[in-house]
Amino acid sequence: MDKVDFKEFIEKVRQANDIVEVVSEYVVLKRAGSKYKSLSPFKKEKTPSFFVDPQKQLFKCFSSGYGGTVFDFIMYYEKLDFIGALKHLARRAGLSFPSSFRYEEQNESLRQKQKLWELHEAVAEYWTKILVDEPAGEPARAYLKERNIDLCIAKEFGLGYAPNSWDGLLRWASTKKGLLEMLEPAGLVVRTEHSKIYDRFRGRLMFRITDEAGKVVGFSGRLIEGEQGPKYLNSPESPIFTKGKILYGFHKAKRAIAETGKAILCEGHIDLIRLHAAGFSIAVATQGTALTDHQAGLLKRFCSEVFVAYDGDRAGEEAALRASDILLAEGLEIKIAQLPPGEDPDSLISKQGREAFEKVLKEALPYPSFVLNKACLEYSPQQAFGKSKIAEKMAGLLVKISDPIRRHTASLEVAARLGISLEIFEQKMAQLDTANKRTEELNRKEDREKQSWGEKIPPVILESLWFLMDYPQFIAHFKETFPAGVLSDIPGGELLIRLYDFEEEQKTISISSFLEILSQEQKGIVVSFMFHPLQEKPEGYTPEGHCRILQEGLFLLWRQKCLERIKIQSQSGLLSGQEISAKLKEIVDLARKLL
Ligand code: UTP
Ligand code: MN
Repeated sequence: MDKVDFKEFIEKVRQANDIVEVVSEYVVLKRAGSKYKSLSPFKKEKTPSFFVDPQKQLFKCFSSGYGGTVFDFIMYYEKLDFIGALKHLARRAGLSFPSSFRYEEQNESLRQKQKLWELHEAVAEYWTKILVDEPAGEPARAYLKERNIDLCIAKEFGLGYAPNSWDGLLRWASTKKGLLEMLEPAGLVVRTEHSKIYDRFRGRLMFRITDEAGKVVGFSGRLIEGEQGPKYLNSPESPIFTKGKILYGFHKAKRAIAETGKAILCEGHIDLIRLHAAGFSIAVATQGTALTDHQAGLLKRFCSEVFVAYDGDRAGEEAALRASDILLAEGLEIKIAQLPPGEDPDSLISKQGREAFEKVLKEALPYPSFVLNKACLEYSPQQAFGKSKIAEKMAGLLVKISDPIRRHTASLEVAARLGISLEIFEQKMAQLDTANKRTEELNRKEDREKQSWGEKIPPVILESLWFLMDYPQFIAHFKETFPAGVLSDIPGGELLIRLYDFEEEQKTISISSFLEILSQEQKGIVVSFMFHPLQEKPEGYTPEGHCRILQEGLFLLWRQKCLERIKIQSQSGLLSGQEISAKLKEIVDLARKLL
């Protein structure tokens, strides 16, 4: 591999991927001074501790400790190595990874993922082409017509058709280089006991399942003709597909969700497509399984309010309540959209138009009110026993609402409905609250302990590092006052030594390429400093003044370390009087240089 070209390619990819744009595909960034902030995409949290600096093109997540460039973000988030992240971002920017690099990924599992992504993309295109263009797609086109789904919409959602054949996909893949052997790990073919393989999806309308970044990671197929089988058949989990981590349609909806701060959660694939086609572009679907914490967390990063629009039957209502519990724990505001009995969003809109669904949304009840109504049907709000049962149920629910105003409003409603005083109801909640707070405090303590490794390097070292990256013209002066020999006595001093070496080698300083030579842990620490509030330059700032302050700080730190060492060594008789004087003179000399 040509080393220079490779470096150039990295730079090209970096420039084509603005960190704010890339990160915005995973979280909603809000302006905070010269930077952006949001909830962490890596760790559950209630207050935002994730920052992005658009000028320096860096991010820092204080709750996970991760930090670095756009490459690091993708490495952490997509669990890729550097080359994997490079390829990912190259593809995002429409740059092809030069085949002359012929880079063999070190890690077998990453190579596998890469191949799976490529396979899914190709298969998705293959099935779509059949649906849209080919005679073999006729049964699916007829089915879409019957269900009143426009071919334009089908194209927009990348729907496809897997014809009713045992080896259609197999035969197609055998003509493509490197795809055939990936069909089995992707679960697109099934192996019999006698080691025969055949297509998993036959005679099915195919839905692409994409991840947050829009990459195809699996499929779901609705039966439309041929043999019996489940109505919907899904890809099995694979290294790139975990069902519980994905919401169907999320990639398509997320911009609208972020813009409005709202989402509609439905169950089915067709529901989702119908909703989008009717203009409800904030809809996402669970694909019929129970909502997971992970999916709720995904929504929380993009919005604050969720309409739960599940099927209008008993099973649908139960699933809606379970999903709402999970959404509530994420701090989301929830409204229960009640569909007429026997309808789902698709059937309602098909029969009665978008206005009917709009009405359902308008009449949606806040989750606590919905539960209160139900509890009042189950127990009598007039009798003491019923009051106590209902209050207990509601207290258990409302303590999970962290916003005090929302909690208060809901409490008022409960107290009024039960004809009890607010104080009594609040007492009941307070008991539950203390127990909750205790567990929270414990969790927080554990987090703090995990974070303390970040404090190993003194701030003045980090500040100096950033100063020198901004003003490399001061490096020479630093080197003279604090040569490597002196710095090596200070904890973290090796970071400055690495910067000296880097500048000597490269002759210029590019922050991102300097960060690239640090370990992931060092990077996390170095980057964290940049997001410190004191980083903003005060009025009347001069680099000369700043340089002086930093050097004094470094000197004091170094002196303290030296004195500590002299004290210990002399106490244990390791230093002669002469040696002690020599060391002290060293300190005085450096002080003179500075003053
Ligand atoms: P439903 O049974 O409510 O079907 O399943 P639906 O969405 O109304 O489907 P249509 O309108 O008849 O086409 C809801 C969701 O549950 C998942 C699918 O994601 C489906 O959209 N599901 C359902 C399965 O995964 N497997 C099944 O066999 C059935
Ligand atoms: Mn349906």
